[in-house]
Amino acid sequence: MPSLADKRILLGVTGGIAAYKSADLVRRLQDRGATVRVVMTAGAREFVKPLTFQALSGNPVHTDLLDPAAEAAMGHIELAKWADVILIAPASASVMARLAAGMADDLLSTLCLASEAPLVLAPAMNQAMWRHPATQANAQTLQSRGATLLGPDAGSQACGDVGPGRMLEPLDIVDGLINTIAPEQVLKGKKVAITAGPTREALDPVRYLSNHSSGKMGFAIAAAAARAGAEVTLIAGPVRLETPAGVNRVDVVSTEDMHKAAEDAADDSDLFIAAAAVVDFRPAVVANQKIKKEDGSDSDVLQLVKNPDIVAAIAGRTSKRPFVVGFAAETEKVAEHARGKLARKNLDMIIANDVSNPEGGFNSDRNQVILIDDNGEQLLPAALKTELATQLIGLIAARAFPSAE
Ligand SMILES: Cc1cc2nc3c(=O)[nH]c(=O)nc-3n(C[C@H](O)[C@H](O)[C@H](O)COP(=O)(O)O)c2cc1C
Repeated sequence: MPSLADKRILLGVTGGIAAYKSADLVRRLQDRGATVRVVMTAGAREFVKPLTFQALSGNPVHTDLLDPAAEAAMGHIELAKWADVILIAPASASVMARLAAGMADDLLSTLCLASEAPLVLAPAMNQAMWRHPATQANAQTLQSRGATLLGPDAGSQACGDVGPGRMLEPLDIVDGLINTIAPEQVLKGKKVAITAGPTREALDPVRYLSNHSSGKMGFAIAAAAARAGAEVTLIAGPVRLETPAGVNRVDVVSTEDMHKAAEDAADDSDLFIAAAAVVDFRPAVVANQKIKKEDGSDSDVLQLVKNPDIVAAIAGRTSKRPFVVGFAAETEKVAEHARGKLARKNLDMIIANDVSNPEGGFNSDRNQVILIDDNGEQLLPAALKTELATQLIGLIAARAFPSAE
């Protein structure tokens, strides 16, 4: 079982209804060998008594910044240095805003500012609070500075709303934490090339053909592969996503550009994962100037030519061929169509998803997939794309490099 042995975890608990679940989280962290010290905000203390966390953690609970007694024993700077990781669960909208702004107006925010330890947050709040542009911007700011967000999950909420904002369950937080700070190095020493996002085919200087791919799945896989020890090249179409930590990113626009970058990267890769939603056809002619409405007839037909099939080209190699994993975005007969693609393109494995399913697909943070290879099919039930990516990397590594296990 992956472990947190010898890890010193500073658990920040903030003022949300999910604070009661953090009592169980302390136990689950200790089960994996961690030492836990708890910091509670004033808001958190309205929901759960510090005594609960003191009894469970076996350590005094830290609550106040301006406490002379605390400064004589373990003060805020010592606590900040003591932590191997700071985990905030539940992370309120308020604490996310304070951390994004660099505030140091209570013990927890001051610790976060004073510590060089990795910061991991498990947000928990009402769905409208989570969806609010201010919270979304704060989440992005924190992530761009290296913080990891675990969740939130979606579903029914304590307030009666339904939507994203539920704190992940304690065991899922523990798994996410391990994947963040002590992931199994299943791809150590391996070179991995991953394509992600859409491609874009110009019609003229202002218009293009593309699709709804957000790139979230491919970026999550790149992040998971890097955490698993791989040297990752991420070939990204036009997307608005931060580059995952430790990943080498190559930005492309057209399918032909992506093809060239993929061939270059595949020459030196052990594993190639094609998660991009490549545009299959491009205009036969790209106009130099903007096409004018007045110049066309009522029934002008766009002439298209086929784009290169990137994943089939890499899988069809006779030399320097990496283990090749494709994706199939289907809207009907998902497994059947994916199996056809696996055989037709000579892939080693295919990950099929139903993009018409409201529980997943292009722009969602969640997905449900079927992993198919010559050994059979495996359904991975609906989960956050970030969690699914970690599971997929584990399964792909086990099949691509069985001797490494
Ligand atoms: C009953 C109740 C439940 C609340 N639940 C949440 C919550 O789940 N998430 C959240 O961000 N804020 C929640 N709030 C609001 C926070 O408690 C409030 O923003 C507080 O200032 C957070 O401070 P802290 O981040 O320092 O703990 C709740 C408030 C009340 C009264």
